[in-house]
Amino acid sequence: MADLYPVPEAVSAGASGPLRTFDAYLRAAHRAGSDPSGYWLQQARERLAWRTPPTVGLQGGYHTVAGEPFTWFADGVLNVTESCLDRHLGPRGNKTAILWEGDEPGDVRTLSYAELHTEVCRTANALRHLGVGSGDRVVIYMGMVPEAAIAMLACARLGAIHSVVFGGFSAESLRDRVLDCGARVVITQDEGRRGGRPIPLKATTDEALQGLEIDQVLVYRHTGAEVGFDPERDVWWHEVVPHAGDTHRAVPMDAEDPLFILYTSGSTGKPKGLVHTTAGYLLWTSWTCETTFDLREDDVFACVADIGWITGHSYIVYGPLANGATTLMFESTPLYPDAGRYWDMVERHNITVFYTAPTAIRALAAHGSEPVERHDRSTLRVLGTVGEPINADAWRWYHDVVGEGRCTIVDTWWQTETGGHMITPIAPITATKPGSATLPLPGILPVLLDSEDRVIFGPGEGRLCIAHPWPGQARTVWGDHARYVQTYFGHFRSLYFTGDGARRDTDGYYWITGRVDDVLNISGHRMGTAEFESALNASDEVSEAAVVPFPHDVKGQGVYAYIVLQPGSDDHELQSRLNALCRERIGAHARIDALQIVPGLPKTRSGKVMRRILRKVAEGQPENLGDISTLADPSVVKAIVAGAVDTSG
Ligand code: PRX
Repeated sequence: MADLYPVPEAVSAGASGPLRTFDAYLRAAHRAGSDPSGYWLQQARERLAWRTPPTVGLQGGYHTVAGEPFTWFADGVLNVTESCLDRHLGPRGNKTAILWEGDEPGDVRTLSYAELHTEVCRTANALRHLGVGSGDRVVIYMGMVPEAAIAMLACARLGAIHSVVFGGFSAESLRDRVLDCGARVVITQDEGRRGGRPIPLKATTDEALQGLEIDQVLVYRHTGAEVGFDPERDVWWHEVVPHAGDTHRAVPMDAEDPLFILYTSGSTGKPKGLVHTTAGYLLWTSWTCETTFDLREDDVFACVADIGWITGHSYIVYGPLANGATTLMFESTPLYPDAGRYWDMVERHNITVFYTAPTAIRALAAHGSEPVERHDRSTLRVLGTVGEPINADAWRWYHDVVGEGRCTIVDTWWQTETGGHMITPIAPITATKPGSATLPLPGILPVLLDSEDRVIFGPGEGRLCIAHPWPGQARTVWGDHARYVQTYFGHFRSLYFTGDGARRDTDGYYWITGRVDDVLNISGHRMGTAEFESALNASDEVSEAAVVPFPHDVKGQGVYAYIVLQPGSDDHELQSRLNALCRERIGAHARIDALQIVPGLPKTRSGKVMRRILRKVAEGQPENLGDISTLADPSVVKAIVAGAVDTSG
């Protein structure tokens, strides 16, 4: 039986979120479970600022998804920015909305709700002037500057669909995304900064857009570096935005209109653009942000993710702003200038809720407790984690050292596809266990399936599915609804398949065991094995490549590549050449950690690579290979085992 950590008194005292007692949670779970449509309709009507309040909740369901997708609140009309900005102007006009900390410690900017509103209106007017209208796609390729959030909100104000591309992606990845969503306008900045190093965002944008028909590139000047400038296409932010009108009447949108597209990796080489809707997504981020963290009026909420991932969308921008909270945007890294950076910020900004990823916690724990303890962390109340399974040791370090045992830990399980939290402790009420995401939120109905696709009742381990739609669920894959249907609903009838495995214990607590498909989770970055393989196959030196994950102490998973060389190729410094290729084709975050040259890949007689074998060898468990009699050539396994790279250290 794992340790059970009750919620500390100081965390539950003064709770102000929607669910403050365990009884309230059980009642909400019962109501949302028995009448999801009515429950979320009431929440949506009460929580969001509507032009026309909806009269319907859920229409359709998973059974309709192959034809007409299900919808939430379909007859409602609203603009997301009125919930995130306009309605706060009276009560919270002078309250800090965005608290920005730049790459250098103490480089701080704040924007009040009134100031943010004005900036968003100006930017919306400027974008309108550049020809952006409702339904147009705008790609945002920026670093962690307030203008990235302003650009997102300005698009939402116009009813344009934003697609933020993480600033670490390469020119090629950016180009693919611009093409896939059909963007005519791209917003970028001269350079980003991270850990004292510049990130050449404009130069990468120029490379990505070569030969494409793009109307306009709006360029925010951040570092002042010299960058290329095409006067036909490029427009400086500072030449248009400050002069644009500072009021803008938000464009009314239908509840189900797309708010944004966010690309994520799946099990093929082609990233998929998940589409999130206006009302359902906003309700989900707003409600989960307040409920999970017990967000309070005077909280300083710090989610240190990047805006290019779903965590940044939901818990830096939309969730906190919909709640009128003060949200931190952080440009740097946890280790710059040293391992005390996060806690230095906690002390200077009086941060109360802090949300990060297990990989950062593990990297910091490796530096010991001194960098933490030299800073006052007494304002902290809730510590969140997201992105990958957290091991018990890292959990305890976060709890005992960072939180001094006074704070509660919320290990939030969710995905790009889910829009917001799904299985998570609720800060003031859920007793926690190190490494468990605990219990589903009300209305979320997890189902575990065994290896024969049978539903597991009670304790057990299997593939994690969700039995009923919730408002924040992505509705489609941009331009490829068939892929959406196949990926998420093609496996099990009337269930959403998450791609994760999970265990349910005797208390009904969930323990996420990781992906069961070909998706990797490297330092919280989601990448497909197929993306790596198609990058590697582009090398003239590579005849065949297969990529699998292995457990990595800091990154969670490392990347292990098996390479069959082209005849006559030289393996000298091959790993660094192939890493350069991955960087060029995918991005700076795509690196191979272990490389093995093999005479062939283990394939079945029908030519399918048996990844199970490759995973076991990469994990250092060649003794448990299971049945290999179906292989076309079992002798390659011997060579693979003999030449395995030691990944244990
Ligand atoms: O495997 C799960 C893991 O991250 C995947 C989703 O990745 P992405 O769409 O990039 O979103 C990350 C931020 C929500 C999931 O399928 N994951 C996420 N949170 C957790 C997790 N695994 C275990 N525990 C978590 N708390």
